Amino acid sequence: MNDDIETILFSEEIIAQRVAELAARIDEDYGARGGELALVGALTGSLVFLADLTRHIRTPHAVDTIRARSYGASTRSSGAVRVTHKPLLDLAGKHVLLVEDIYDTGRTITRLLEHLRACNPRSLEVCVMFSKRGRRLFRVNVKYRGFEIPDRFIVGYGLDYNEKYRNLPYVGVLRKDRIIEAGNHAGKKRR
Ligand code: IMP
Ligand code: MG
Repeated sequence: MNDDIETILFSEEIIAQRVAELAARIDEDYGARGGELALVGALTGSLVFLADLTRHIRTPHAVDTIRARSYGASTRSSGAVRVTHKPLLDLAGKHVLLVEDIYDTGRTITRLLEHLRACNPRSLEVCVMFSKRGRRLFRVNVKYRGFEIPDRFIVGYGLDYNEKYRNLPYVGVLRKDRIIEAGNHAGKKRR
């Protein structure tokens, strides 16, 4: 285990099993439904999840990405969220499934949904791997969720702290003494 990790919450095996379950549900819901499906992964955090999910989904689908940038502290999202990279695909008339790493306050997903809704999809749903309880500022209808987690800062499986730890195959709680809290540093944070 990485020395910066306090505890492992989800092993590689447990994550793989859950991704397969989510993909099976997505296939059930979209398989028999007419129309085209497009997964839109939110960069950068969802990359690892997106790569696993797309390979488990049997229903033919397109894959694209979107990026939002938020401003504020490094372990908390705050302030304005701006879409800085738009999907290249024409999403009009498609079943769009937004794929995100984590649903925390909901600020990022809310902004991404606003953007995607304006693309006139046939349907629009959300799939997140992790959902942090008790932190909601913006409520979103999340149809597919991997795991509910406590309000701790997690890393691994695509999730970062200052762009580190995305490569960990498991998800763990980052040691508190590895976190430089808000106020200690200002500036822009890419999510
Ligand atoms: P929200 O806008 O507050 O819902 O925050 C969502 C974004 O904050 C995610 O896309 C992540 O990039 C980041 N985030 C929130 N909680 C965590 C965490 O525990 N670990 C790593 N990133 C997180
Ligand atoms: Mg991030």
